[in-house]
Amino acid sequence: MSDKENFSNLTINQMNINDLPEIMAIERESFPSPWTRGIFKKELQSTNSWCLCVRLNSKFKSVVAAYIIFWLVANEAHLHNLAVKKEYRGRGFAFKLMEAMREIALENEVAAQTLEVRESNIEAIKLYQKCGFVVKGVRPLYYKDTRESALIMWADLEK
Ligand SMILES: CC(C)(COP(=O)(O)OP(=O)(O)OC[C@H]1O[C@@H](n2cnc3c(N)ncnc32)[C@H](O)[C@@H]1OP(=O)(O)O)[C@@H](O)C(=O)NCCC(=O)NCCS
Repeated sequence: MSDKENFSNLTINQMNINDLPEIMAIERESFPSPWTRGIFKKELQSTNSWCLCVRLNSKFKSVVAAYIIFWLVANEAHLHNLAVKKEYRGRGFAFKLMEAMREIALENEVAAQTLEVRESNIEAIKLYQKCGFVVKGVRPLYYKDTRESALIMWADLEK
């Protein structure tokens, strides 16, 4: 956060269609193959999908700093997307969103959480380990853009 910005509070809300321009700017700076607007719109319409974003609010403006998209399906929470705006990384926002996913999964009596992550994405792997995820498998050459493997991670949820 720059010194000029004086955000007085942080909120985690449901994402809506008006957030998409900011979300897509974060998406483009975060991933080699960013999701399209169409994919985000489908997620917003899906009844299985939870789409949350962190907003930083001040008297004068409100900015989207991070977002998470996950599905609750077949007694599992599947993380589909998570990114933090570059200038706001390292402030615990991704951890807060992972905690929000965990709480919603628990409220919905889901038994476990799962995700896939690029094997080179050390920051994300460390985040997921901090949230209790462990590597349970590998999908070789899963990401076509970089021909990287995906690590499959799981975390059981304690009742
Ligand atoms: C991965 C990402 C979501 C982390 O967001 P963040 O808000 O900066 O992370 P947090 O500040 O909540 O950090 C939580 C934990 O993640 C890990 N972590 C985050 N950034 C890290 C870094 N640069 N180096 C090592 N570990 C890091 C640490 O374990 C950290 O806990 P700690 O502060 O106690 O050490 C962010 O870097 C990002 O948006 N990357 C691009 C998109 C992406 O890769 N998404 C994940 C797709 S699977």
